[in-house]
Amino acid sequence: MKSPVVLLADDEVGFVETLSKRLRKRDLSVVTAHSGQEALENLGTNSSIDVVVLDIKMPGMDGIVTLNAIKRLHPLVEVILLTGHATVESAIEGMKLGAFDYLRKPVDFELLLSKINAVQEKTVRTDRLVSLGRLAATVAHEINNPLSVVLTYIKLIVKLIERDRFTPERLAEVRQYLTYMEQETSRCGEIAKNLLSFARQSKSEIVPESIVDIIHRTLLLVSYDFKHRNVQLLKELADELPLILCDANQIQQALLNLLQNAAEAMSEGGTITVEAQRSSDAGFVEVVITDTGCGIPAARQNDVFEAFFTTKEKGKGVGLGLAVVKSIITRHQGFIEVESPVTKKKSNPGTRFRIRLPIARQGGTSVAAAEAERA
Ligand SMILES: Nc1ncnc2c1ncn2[C@@H]1O[C@H](COP(=O)(O)OP(=O)(O)OP(=O)(O)O)[C@@H](O)[C@H]1O
Ligand SMILES: [Mg+2]
Repeated sequence: MKSPVVLLADDEVGFVETLSKRLRKRDLSVVTAHSGQEALENLGTNSSIDVVVLDIKMPGMDGIVTLNAIKRLHPLVEVILLTGHATVESAIEGMKLGAFDYLRKPVDFELLLSKINAVQEKTVRTDRLVSLGRLAATVAHEINNPLSVVLTYIKLIVKLIERDRFTPERLAEVRQYLTYMEQETSRCGEIAKNLLSFARQSKSEIVPESIVDIIHRTLLLVSYDFKHRNVQLLKELADELPLILCDANQIQQALLNLLQNAAEAMSEGGTITVEAQRSSDAGFVEVVITDTGCGIPAARQNDVFEAFFTTKEKGKGVGLGLAVVKSIITRHQGFIEVESPVTKKKSNPGTRFRIRLPIARQGGTSVAAAEAERA
C-alpha cells in the first residue's frame, strides 16, 4: 500500500521544513503550506492528499476556519490539528467540527506518525463500509434468485411425494431437479464467500494477484443485477497477464463501483465491455470499462471524482462511488482516466473508465514504484 500523502500547514517556516524532512525520512510524501489559504489551494489541485496536519494558530485564515472549509470541500480528507497550550479549547472546538485528532506542540514525532497511520486505517475501513452498504442490496438479489429456484424444486418434490407419484420414471426427473438445486446452492455459497472475504475487517493485504481473477470474482457479484437491468456483458480479458501488487478486496470494490455506475447510466439497458490487458505504458496492466450509457459531459468529467458529487436523484446516489475508486487506485500507485463520449450516438454517447495498475515484480515491489524511485 502506498504510504499516506500528508499536507503540512503551519506558518512557522523552520518548523515546517524540519518536520517535513523527518516525515519524508519515514517514507511519507509531504506537501507543505504556510497558510490556511495555501493549504486549501493545495487540496484543490492535489487530490492524492490523505491527511492534513494543521496548525491552529496562523495569521489570516486560522486553523479552525481552514478546518471548516476542508471538511466542507474535501470531506474525505482527515485533519490532525496542532495546538499550543493556549489553544487547547480551539482544538476541542476543532474536534467537534470533525477533526480526526489533535496534538500539542512541541510535537511528539512518533505520536504524530501513529496518528497519521490511524487516519490511513480509518480511510480504508470507511471505503469498505460505503461499498459494503451498496453491495448488500445487490447481494440480496443475487442470493434471492437461486434460493427461489431451489424452493420451487423442493415444492415440486414434496408434491410428488405427497401425491404418491414418486414412480421410477419420475425418479430421473427428480434427480435432475436435485442437480439444479445443487448448482444453485453452490452459487449461493460462492456469493456468500465472496461477500465475506470482501467484508473481512482484516488489515489490507498487499500481495501479487491476478487482475483477471479479481474481475471474475467481481462480475459474479453483479451478474444477476445486470441481467435484471437488461445489461449485456462483454469480456475481453487477455491471457497470462502479469500479476499486480494489490489488496484484491479493494480493487474488487473499485471495479464494483465502476460497474454499478455503468449499469446505472443505462436506464434502458445496454452493453458493458470489460477489458484487461497490458497497458501501452510499460510496467502497468489496465482494466477498461466501457458502457453505452448517457455519457458524462466534458465540463463534468473532473467533478465526478469529487466526494458527494452526484447527478442521481435523492436516495439513489450518495456521490461517493468514484471518490472511493480514485482513492483506492491512487493508493495503489495507479491511475484512472475517464473518456466520454466514446461513440457518435447522441442518445447514448457512452463512457469509458481506464484504470492502470503497476505490475508486481519479484521481491515484492512493483516496476512502477521502482521507476518512480529512479526518476
Ligand atoms: N459510467 C457513467 N456514465 C455516466 N455518468 C457517470 C458514470 N459514472 C459516473 N457518472 C456520473 O458521476 C457521478 C458520480 O458518480 P459516483 O459513483 O461518485 O456517485 P453516484 O453513483 O452518484 O452515487 P454513489 O455514491 O451511490 O455511487 C454520477 O452521479 C454520474 O453523474
Ligand atoms: Mg456510483
